[in-house]
Amino acid sequence: MPTIGNIDLGEFPLLLAPMEDVSDPPFRRLCKMHGADMLYSEFISSEGLIRDAIKSRQKLDIFDYERPVGIQIFGGDEEAMALSAKIVATVNPDLVDINFGCPVKKVVSKGAGAGVLKDIDLMVRLTKAVVNSTTLPVTVKTRLGWDEQSINIEEVAERLQDVGISALTIHARTRSQMYKGHSDWSYIAKVKNNPRMHIPIFGNGDIDSPEKALEYRNKYGIDGIMIGRAAIGYPWIFNEIKHYFATGELLPSPTIADRVEAAKNHLLWSVEWKGERQGVVEMRRHYANYFKGIPNFKEHRHKLVTLDASEEVVKALDNVLEVLGDKR
Ligand SMILES: Cc1cc2nc3c(=O)[nH]c(=O)nc-3n(C[C@H](O)[C@H](O)[C@H](O)COP(=O)(O)O)c2cc1C
Repeated sequence: MPTIGNIDLGEFPLLLAPMEDVSDPPFRRLCKMHGADMLYSEFISSEGLIRDAIKSRQKLDIFDYERPVGIQIFGGDEEAMALSAKIVATVNPDLVDINFGCPVKKVVSKGAGAGVLKDIDLMVRLTKAVVNSTTLPVTVKTRLGWDEQSINIEEVAERLQDVGISALTIHARTRSQMYKGHSDWSYIAKVKNNPRMHIPIFGNGDIDSPEKALEYRNKYGIDGIMIGRAAIGYPWIFNEIKHYFATGELLPSPTIADRVEAAKNHLLWSVEWKGERQGVVEMRRHYANYFKGIPNFKEHRHKLVTLDASEEVVKALDNVLEVLGDKR
């Protein structure tokens, strides 16, 4: 049974991935309601936190009902990472996670995120600086390596474990793959099967169905699975996977009423947390995801993404149910 520090995660935890502009408190709450066992914040720049950037501080908002919840930081400077881990600790999350996987240019060019994949010594120093600066468990999320020619995850895993991390999540892609191509989980299995490794190893990348989750669980022997994109607009994925693991049967997909209710909750919680204007605007990118594959949704979408008052959007969501009916 995987544990991180003294957090008991249950037999085979399903973790919600940290996702910038997605994994905020309203979305995390939905995923928790639908079975996610562990939640992570969006990544937070260590330098931004230290400068007290308002947006960075807002990302530190966590709530007791979310527990266990981790806050993820990134950066390329040891002192800044250590100090930001101390700032993170003041809001008392269950753990601090370090991002060594973000492939986007603005992060990599500062030697942060996946930028450290080419420099294992730096990665180890940054991790050590964070571990030494906090009593919270420290976990890492990373990729296989910089590119196909330099996959170094086996060495990275051992060395990060040696400096005291409590769990490792591996997104089975290289930096140069960005989000394209296939994730190759055989490297995750190699890390997991290394007899020197004793911390939990979580697999990440492309899990989008209960069947695939079971297949990968059996094939690669990981301690849990982290899910990102498949949960966007579809928080049901967590309970669907759990149900399939427990019974071998697939749950029926959510009905229109379920989808409307989830989108409404997401909107209401966003408005509560971000304020009316920002809450309404930032929800716009989610509606198409909640109703993906639903015939005749298009005409409703236009309304949902143009109305300005949350009350009106709620009415428009109710109208989706009235017009389309409560079917799957
Ligand atoms: C919109 C978006 C934002 C992301 N932001 C982060 C982030 O802040 N920190 C991080 O470690 N990974 C981030 N990722 C990567 C995901 O956590 C995950 O590793 C990746 O999407 C692969 O998992 P999936 O196939 O289940 O989506 C992001 C991914 C997406 C799609």
